[in-house]
Amino acid sequence: MSNNNVQFVAQPGGRVNGTIRVPGDKSVSHRSIIFGSIAEGTTRVEGFLDGDDSLATLQAFRDMGVEIEGPDQGRVTIHGVGLHGLKQPSGPLYLGNSGTSMRLLSGLLSAQPFPVTLTGDSSLSKRPMNRVAKPLGEMGAVIATAEGGRPPLELSSDSKLRGFDYQMPIASAQVKSCLLLAGLYAEGTTRVTEPAPTRDHTERMLTGFGYAVESEPTPSGKQISLSGGGTLKAIDIQVPSDISSATFFLVAAAITPGSELTLEQVGINPTRIGVINILKLMGADLCLKNEGLAGGEPVADIEIRYAPLHGIDIPVDQVPLAIDEFPALFIAAACSEGTTRLSGAEELRVKESDRIQVMADGLDALGVVNEVMEDGIVIQGGPIRGGTVDSHGDHRIAMSFAIAALQSIGEILIDDCANVATSFPNFVELANQVGMNVTAR
Ligand code: S3P
Repeated sequence: MSNNNVQFVAQPGGRVNGTIRVPGDKSVSHRSIIFGSIAEGTTRVEGFLDGDDSLATLQAFRDMGVEIEGPDQGRVTIHGVGLHGLKQPSGPLYLGNSGTSMRLLSGLLSAQPFPVTLTGDSSLSKRPMNRVAKPLGEMGAVIATAEGGRPPLELSSDSKLRGFDYQMPIASAQVKSCLLLAGLYAEGTTRVTEPAPTRDHTERMLTGFGYAVESEPTPSGKQISLSGGGTLKAIDIQVPSDISSATFFLVAAAITPGSELTLEQVGINPTRIGVINILKLMGADLCLKNEGLAGGEPVADIEIRYAPLHGIDIPVDQVPLAIDEFPALFIAAACSEGTTRLSGAEELRVKESDRIQVMADGLDALGVVNEVMEDGIVIQGGPIRGGTVDSHGDHRIAMSFAIAALQSIGEILIDDCANVATSFPNFVELANQVGMNVTAR
């Protein structure tokens, strides 16, 4: 079946109630496979996201000779081969829809003594890779991209990496992680400075695997440094539930009178909680309970109940901390009293789709007044009509319009939804379990 053939049909109305646990964090799942594979010893993972993106990373390491058992109900066992034990794959590594896999692997594989080519699906093939290819080139990597810095990426075996100091021009955890992975193999010290805080799962997990990483605050974000030549020691990892997946249900409860929902053991890493901060600023009634730690990451149950939302100017410092949550937050804005303004979010244009334009087109189709900016959008709260929207194969856009139906006047049809399986394979099941009416056909 082609990806274009899965359509969601979301019936208007309903409310959301109950207690659910959303699947494992995608960013942490990718990193558990990467670090487990290059560690010495056996890494056992629980709560692994059994989604197409993290499975693409898992398959890539199997293709490079790493023995990996599972996933079996979220359990994965990785028999690490050490930093120098990866083998040349028999062909290109296909990474599907997953930008994280391509950008993180480009750093790690630039440093291997074999050539390798990284490819992806039509969406990934349009995404910018110079943001990693250029700094890796400065470290001494030999990389070829297709025209315009797009995939495929051809990584040569002739690279000799040197540590360097890099000021990232964009706030990107993928770029930071890519360079730190290359830095594991580089001669000397690699220092990466963020222009604003970005998710720090790589630094946390490297530390968990016993690798020395230094993190110094700077006026804008942090400078992270590590030196090449160490080793990683296998550990056990408990993957928290993904706050990016929890977001669809947080917004669903926030916009729907009569809703009261608990999301269990969600990752609340401070570099990921922009959605909580933004929803609270909009008036959401939300609190954290049972705070604890899972695999070096803070977790909590999130309780949310309906309260009327109002439009806000989204603080620019929250943008990198909520970067994957904006499609759902745009639905919250549509259901708010007044105007919501987002700026400083040009990165949304180079995600799995152009999330500013694709969301604006969908909002237009449902009669929600909005104005597109180069780096953001202005959304006027008001009634949501029924209609048909195109997700452009973007998982988060498909799920966002599905929750919009809770407040729509008519049925919402969403095209091109197969990629929901990249991050949230049981979304439709959980949506129906809490009281929504969504079918996939
Ligand atoms: C990710 C980083 C973010 C995010 C992506 C996952 C990661 O991308 O959008 O879904 O796991 O490092 P950028 O670093 O490009 O902002």
